[in-house]
Amino acid sequence: MTRRLFWKKPISHLLEVSESKKGLKKVLGTPAVFLMGLGAIIGAGIFILTGVASAYYAGPALVLSFVFAGIACLFTALCYAEFATMVPVAGSAYTYSYVTLGELFAWIIGWDLILEYTLIVTALAVGWSGYMVSIISTLGINLPSQLLNPPGVSGGFVNLPAVIIIGIISLLLIRGTKLSSQFNSLIVMIKLFVVLLFIAIGVNYIHPANYHPFLPYGYIGIFKGAAIIFFAYIGFDAITTAAEEVKNPQRTFPIAILGSLVVASILYIIVTLVLNGMVPYYSLGIAAPVAYALNSVGIHWADIVVSVGALAGLTSVILVGFFGQSRVFYAMARDGLLPPFFTKLHETFQTPINGIMLVGVVAAVLAAFLPITDIAELVNIGTLAAFIIVSASVLVLRKTRPDINRPFKTPYLPWVPILAIISALGLVYELPTVTQLRFVVWLAIGLFIYFFYGRKHSHLTGEHGTGEEEVIKNIPEE
Ligand code: ALA
Repeated sequence: MTRRLFWKKPISHLLEVSESKKGLKKVLGTPAVFLMGLGAIIGAGIFILTGVASAYYAGPALVLSFVFAGIACLFTALCYAEFATMVPVAGSAYTYSYVTLGELFAWIIGWDLILEYTLIVTALAVGWSGYMVSIISTLGINLPSQLLNPPGVSGGFVNLPAVIIIGIISLLLIRGTKLSSQFNSLIVMIKLFVVLLFIAIGVNYIHPANYHPFLPYGYIGIFKGAAIIFFAYIGFDAITTAAEEVKNPQRTFPIAILGSLVVASILYIIVTLVLNGMVPYYSLGIAAPVAYALNSVGIHWADIVVSVGALAGLTSVILVGFFGQSRVFYAMARDGLLPPFFTKLHETFQTPINGIMLVGVVAAVLAAFLPITDIAELVNIGTLAAFIIVSASVLVLRKTRPDINRPFKTPYLPWVPILAIISALGLVYELPTVTQLRFVVWLAIGLFIYFFYGRKHSHLTGEHGTGEEEVIKNIPEE
């Protein structure tokens, strides 16, 4: 009975499913996936959270927080690249843990990814709404505040712009992966331009005096800052959810995962250095720090340009987060852990329409009525948990299945996965206790659903599974 919880899905079976005609359409090449990575990564983290993290957590030393969090992510990215090339099936970390650690862990990670991506969509939609409203009011148009904020914030009733952007992105995703990725490539170009523009202008306004004191919150501030701005790096993992739609995942993933992470890290480190050099760290505890810094040195035109670029940046993060969420749902439902309703593909566009619509509705309701405060921290803890399980899975699978072909191998085993796990645990430790507790509650709800639904309906271990005998025969010896 207990053993069944740890039954693993055979990799051969996964590959068969992904290669069969029934799977999702293979339309994505390397440049598109690389841009999807940047699309998912560069967003609220750099455009919004950098300010608060400088002002209240790390001071100018936030640049070291970015270096630390970037290195931690690099270790994990090397593990993700090994898995994404070995098991190119929709579902990302969920699927990886299904083949290595067994169904219970797979469920936990899938449930965890649902939290991560839904809250990314929610938080970014709220951030998007804030930027949109500020641009509109800069243009002299004032909309009624009841329609722009959630209850309890500035006399609000519903955050309509957040709902609208979620609705638009849902339709785009239903329309198809290829169109979504073309749209993404365009907005990624815009946001890269804006980040480079900020650096090019800001570098001329650096006052070295602003770097003193460098460590106003002491050394611990570097790690507290890293636990917050870790959010800025999330996203390279999301592209692996598209594995099944990638033409040549073996070649594409190592380049796209590592490339997008390295490019984003370099940009983040430079932006943080410039930002903290332009204005004193304690003045940055505001919603739009990048635009504020330009404004405070007198470059007002760039303020609006950067706001528009930030809006583009946030849009693409919503797009990829949303995409990731619908694919995790699809993968979990295909395995029987969630209702079959979520495996239905749109007749013309071949996209998992029901999952997309459900995520859209849930994220829109949350974004409409909730003031988003601690969301980023909850996203971080969910993602860090996924990172820990993926890194552990690389170690486990190298031992249990050394025979499988690995087009990309994580280097310096066991050190890279071990360092990935230790640094992720360190960041979890630095997050507020209330975030850790919320995460535990979410996992408890998930386990409840698993024991009352998923375990019974699983195609692998369930009582009513359709492919049970066939799949179980293929389970490798332990
Ligand atoms: N990395 C993404 C962002 O910064 C989630 O918005």
